[in-house]
Amino acid sequence: MPFKTIIEPFRIKAVEPIRFTTREQREAALAAADYNLFKLRAEDVIIDLLTDSGTGAMSAAQWAGMMQGDESYAGARSFFKFEAAVRDITGLRHIIPTHQGRAAERILFSSACTAGQVVPNNTHFDTTRANLEAIGVRAVDLRCAEATQPSLIAPFKGNIDLAALERCLAENAGRVPFAMITVTNNSGGGQPVSLANIRAASALCRQHRVPLILDCCRFAENAWFIKRREPGQAHRTPADIAREMFGYADGCTMSAKKDGLVNIGGFLALNDDALAAKCRNNLILTEGFPTYGGLAGYDLEALAVGLREVLDEHYLEYRIRSVEYLGEKLTAAGVPIVQPTGGHAIYIDARAMLPHIPQGEFPAWALSCALYLEGGVRSVEIGSVMFGRQPDGTEKPAAMELVRLAFPRRVYTQSHVDYLIEVILSVNSLKSRIRGVHLVEAPPLLRHFTARLAPVGGTLLA
Ligand code: F0G
Repeated sequence: MPFKTIIEPFRIKAVEPIRFTTREQREAALAAADYNLFKLRAEDVIIDLLTDSGTGAMSAAQWAGMMQGDESYAGARSFFKFEAAVRDITGLRHIIPTHQGRAAERILFSSACTAGQVVPNNTHFDTTRANLEAIGVRAVDLRCAEATQPSLIAPFKGNIDLAALERCLAENAGRVPFAMITVTNNSGGGQPVSLANIRAASALCRQHRVPLILDCCRFAENAWFIKRREPGQAHRTPADIAREMFGYADGCTMSAKKDGLVNIGGFLALNDDALAAKCRNNLILTEGFPTYGGLAGYDLEALAVGLREVLDEHYLEYRIRSVEYLGEKLTAAGVPIVQPTGGHAIYIDARAMLPHIPQGEFPAWALSCALYLEGGVRSVEIGSVMFGRQPDGTEKPAAMELVRLAFPRRVYTQSHVDYLIEVILSVNSLKSRIRGVHLVEAPPLLRHFTARLAPVGGTLLA
């Protein structure tokens, strides 16, 4: 096309009204939620960027597909459609549906791991880490050197550190049940992993006879970045690139709530026959029969369609460009963000933005509260509230203090993004008034979901 404006590659057929709130209402809502945005009522949020997980809009084709759902307990037609769609992309032999990503993780980990083992990953997502630690496995993050410098521009900051992986495999010989790579690297800024890095990691794993598992929630976004950024890949389709990515792996865990374009669903896929049989038996215990795995037949139909739609180049171009557009505006205004912009989200570097708040007073958490208070925008802290508590109960500051603004798929338009820019710039202009927060009460595991917090000195904005 001769025009340069990238438009939303869809028309809107059904709409959901947004409820507007005043600053006073939000102030009360924030206090009632113990300064924890997870505890807000979604109705009290104007733009909800808490997560891109399960929050997307389905297409007319997906809704139509749902009417074809076969709800048979065993051997449903919908399962075979789903299985064919997953196999077409991954090429993996055994495809096991689960109700979401962490169920796939729990089933794989409880089937393949024992206490005292070690699992390396570029960066474990919080549920992945928690599921490993819950069975006594040490989850090790081996992010590449570029990944720890938020402002550094590099094409594949999601890469795993290959030298560190090799050391980890050698030092823990016999104690690594599998290695993982998360695409894109969510906790590290939504940054992609290159084909070359996956290929090299796969070769190292094979040398050490350790299977490689992809945590592939955002595989299509990763494939798009490879197409755009990796030399020699520009001519390929995202589907073709995705097939090559999966070709280096022995299995994957998937939260289909992201790049499956569905509101609920996930899967585990494996080549190993014996391990797959063990996982299926575990699946029956808690998720359901292996042809539905905790999902309805209609969920499997929606997923089969979503997995094809997500690889559409117009969709991927629009999605990645909207995030990049927001990133450009914030950068131009001097708001520090993780560079370059990733696939599903913008990550504000709260330590750089709020240097007056010590890390022990959770600057990223405080910033996410301020964004809600000022503009009704809900984001999520990826910092020391989420990651600071160690398995032995001690505190260790997280590597970065980030506020993630994650974009639901096909939900918000350009004017929502422009509103967001205004809100963030307004908060940036009063940043010196933002105060830190402290924990009032917190559970030992995954504390960010339910913890109670309060502003240091009693007020969030001095
Ligand atoms: N792995 C990664 C990389 C994820 O981002 C998530 C979920 C999961 C696994 C778990 O999947 O939620 O379906 O059980 N991430 C969401 C987020 C929750 O907001 O980033 P799930």
